[in-house]
Amino acid sequence: MRTVKVELAERSYPIFIGSNLLADKDLISRHLPQHRAAIVTDSVVAPLYLDAFAGALNDAGVEVIRMVIPAGEQHKDWQTLGSVFDSLIAHRCERKTALIALGGGVIGDLTGFAAATYLRGVPFIQIPTTLLAQVDSSVGGKTAVNHPRGKNLIGAFYQPLAVIADTATLATLPQREIGAGLAEVIKYGLIRDPAFFSWLEANIDALTRRDDDALGYAIQRSCENKAEVVAADEREETGIRAQLNLGHTFGHAIEVGTGYGSWLHGEAVAAGMVIAARVSRHMGLMGDDEVTRIVTLLKRAHLPVVAPDLGVDHYLDLMGLDKKVEGGKIRFILLRAIGSAFITAEVPQDAIAAALVESAHHG
Ligand code: NAD
Ligand code: GLY
Repeated sequence: MRTVKVELAERSYPIFIGSNLLADKDLISRHLPQHRAAIVTDSVVAPLYLDAFAGALNDAGVEVIRMVIPAGEQHKDWQTLGSVFDSLIAHRCERKTALIALGGGVIGDLTGFAAATYLRGVPFIQIPTTLLAQVDSSVGGKTAVNHPRGKNLIGAFYQPLAVIADTATLATLPQREIGAGLAEVIKYGLIRDPAFFSWLEANIDALTRRDDDALGYAIQRSCENKAEVVAADEREETGIRAQLNLGHTFGHAIEVGTGYGSWLHGEAVAAGMVIAARVSRHMGLMGDDEVTRIVTLLKRAHLPVVAPDLGVDHYLDLMGLDKKVEGGKIRFILLRAIGSAFITAEVPQDAIAAALVESAHHG
């Protein structure tokens, strides 16, 4: 088992990464403050893992309350959140009853927000079962639901007590979801870890065919990168954590503009990172060769690099609701080089327009 620590003083917590951790009843139960816990999962994950996981907790003497919500980004909303609160109240869950998120980023984000707000905050544990959730969304305490007009607009920063990433669960993930997770893995190389980017270029085929060692290392290195960023800027106040949003300003516009669930989040981020790289190139920050390296790696991960043609004005309108907007100006994460990102509001409109038009027509 690999362990990564998120260092946040009294809110510090471990990330455990390894195969078959769901069956390790002691690993999970030792983080529970009482012998009762509520598991929130979705309609796809439940038939695969809920019985075995709940059974392991029962063996550890934990009474389990099960909540199954419909799978998919389109259900990461206020209404589904309300159904979780209804269930928590119906089962008389208390301040020490932990909420356990068993699933992908949708489950983790929604359950985390429920944990942050139910009774003003209850213990929370992340059990991520998608690659994307194991490398990104389960770590760092961002929780949220979507608004029809914008991604993750309603949420809270709320750290879990532990993250337990069972890599064996990745065996049942559809191939498209592996690609979506790899987009966020590639993101870490692009924003701050050029050696990792080179390692990914050498190992991308092993990752797409789910080689255990390659996946284990990629998950560990991603979590190490994320843990360092979150420790430096937990609440996204200094611009450091905002770098994790490379490609997301464009990506969120793609997700909302095409309708939640049509493009996977990781796919939209991949196309968004290509647009951000091209904006950087149009501003003279990066060369053609680096943009080509980025596009090539994303394609090898079977990710989309051509963005939907929503029209420049519609993109700008959708991006106007981005959480990074400050004083009415959209702030973008751009690249000085592979491995070096920064945030800026000083981006010429013609560079954005040119990158959007180019990305709607070229891979
Ligand atoms: P998801 O939660 O929708 O999971 C993808 C699909 O895989 C779902 O249908 C799910 O039911 C299924 N699934 C989950 N585990 C499975 C398994 N082991 N086997 C088979 N199927 C499985 O999507 P995701 O890509 O995990 O997460 C995307 C969400 O994460 C987005 O809402 C995004 O905004 C959010 N996110 C949050 C952060 C953060 O820091 N909080 C970071 C990145 C992304
Ligand atoms: N996924 C962006 C963040 O955690 O800050």
